[in-house]
Amino acid sequence: MDWSESSRRSFLKQLSAAGAVALTSTAAHAASPVPVPNPDPAQATPDPLAATRQQRMAWWHEAKFGMFIHWGLYSVIGQHEWAKEVEGIPIPQYEILAKHFKPKPNAARDWARLAKRAGQKYMVMTSKHHEGFCHWDTKLTDYCAAKQGPGRDLVREFVDAARAEGLRVGFYYSLMDWHHPDGIRCATDPEARTRFVDYTHGLIRELMTHYGKIDILWYDVDQPLTPEQWRAADMNRMVFELQPDIVVNNRNGLPGDFSTPEHKIQADNRAWETCDTMNLGWGYQKNDTEWKSAKRIVNDLTTCAQQGGNYLLNVGPTADGSVPEESVRVLEQVGAWLRTNGEAIYGTDGGASVSFGNYDNFTRKGNTLYIHVYFWPAGTPAAQWLSFYQSPTVVAIGGVQAKSLSARVLKTGQPIQFTQDKTTLRLTGLPATAPDDPVTVLAVECDAPPVVDHHSIRPLWPRSKVGISA
Ligand code: GLC
Repeated sequence: MDWSESSRRSFLKQLSAAGAVALTSTAAHAASPVPVPNPDPAQATPDPLAATRQQRMAWWHEAKFGMFIHWGLYSVIGQHEWAKEVEGIPIPQYEILAKHFKPKPNAARDWARLAKRAGQKYMVMTSKHHEGFCHWDTKLTDYCAAKQGPGRDLVREFVDAARAEGLRVGFYYSLMDWHHPDGIRCATDPEARTRFVDYTHGLIRELMTHYGKIDILWYDVDQPLTPEQWRAADMNRMVFELQPDIVVNNRNGLPGDFSTPEHKIQADNRAWETCDTMNLGWGYQKNDTEWKSAKRIVNDLTTCAQQGGNYLLNVGPTADGSVPEESVRVLEQVGAWLRTNGEAIYGTDGGASVSFGNYDNFTRKGNTLYIHVYFWPAGTPAAQWLSFYQSPTVVAIGGVQAKSLSARVLKTGQPIQFTQDKTTLRLTGLPATAPDDPVTVLAVECDAPPVVDHHSIRPLWPRSKVGISA
């Protein structure tokens, strides 16, 4: 899809919404070279994960970009992963899908290769979604891949595939279960609760035991129980006993290691990861063509990095495991961009700016400021009257809080001329058309870790008189 007027507008709207958050959140990152997550204020008791967090999460902060995979029996229907509930499909009907879920060989290998080409550093697959179907060879239910249509352990295939590409491995696990007989009555019946919570802990134990080192446990929906009823603290304790280096999210009712804003970029004063879809749904939805463009995805990834967060981007494979063509096409474009511009994303520290430009965004690493220009600012008619806009292409940034020493186009290495005074960095002598697609990154070496804050210049520029000054 083109960068249409409407997606441009919604992107700008999102930028300004996210920018408001950035004002309060990135200031916290600005002083520190690595975004060290603060303890969660919501957490009343001492945080048992805190002692090892910085070391466990170092790779995760560096990685920035992951692939989410929503795949299950719902993929056979092809109408979104909530089909069972929102359409009210009776369980005996839904179970028939388990026999007809027959993925092709090596589906996970194709995903892992795609993730690698897309520049993603980790993968998180639904091991069990709300529908309750387990993708692995569990001893606790026969509603699982090994004993139904697939006849094999799809979690094992996923783990092997991700590792073969050098990618970190994550399991999504839904606590809510629409299939287990105790999955809802556990809310009111203590015996059912004991059975169901034991079952849940047992499934998680299997996942944490049988597949070697797992890097992420991504819990989801903790309905209908409270964290105490889930025995969530014990759950995490077990997980960390079995997987001491793992990182866990905050969706089992406890804060875990990171927050999980969904369908929105929302910085937190701790580690966070935005998860989002490439079209509108998570699970395969065969008639959903509302695809985000590569430009939108690059910009969202950059906005996450700019604010110190990660970006987990979903694909919803078909029942046989094929990733929709449009997802493949867009991810490959994103990957091609990251191959030349990755240094402006991976390992950046979330401290580059407290504001956005009109056509650009900022990340930094050490003393390097990366200017991500998404609307190339060439050819303004104002140039015929304003020396400010001469030469033909000027990238101007107000409020760069460091001295610029040199600048170059990241893709080509072409040096860029510039001037800098106390308010403005003006990069000039740039090509008339954008040298990269979908976004051009300009790298500026500075004499200190740079911070862009256009608010800082408001008091600085000389003001002459009421009315026209010259
Ligand atoms: C929500 C949805 C679910 C999806 C998840 C991804 O919790 O219930 O379908 O898996 O978000 O973040």
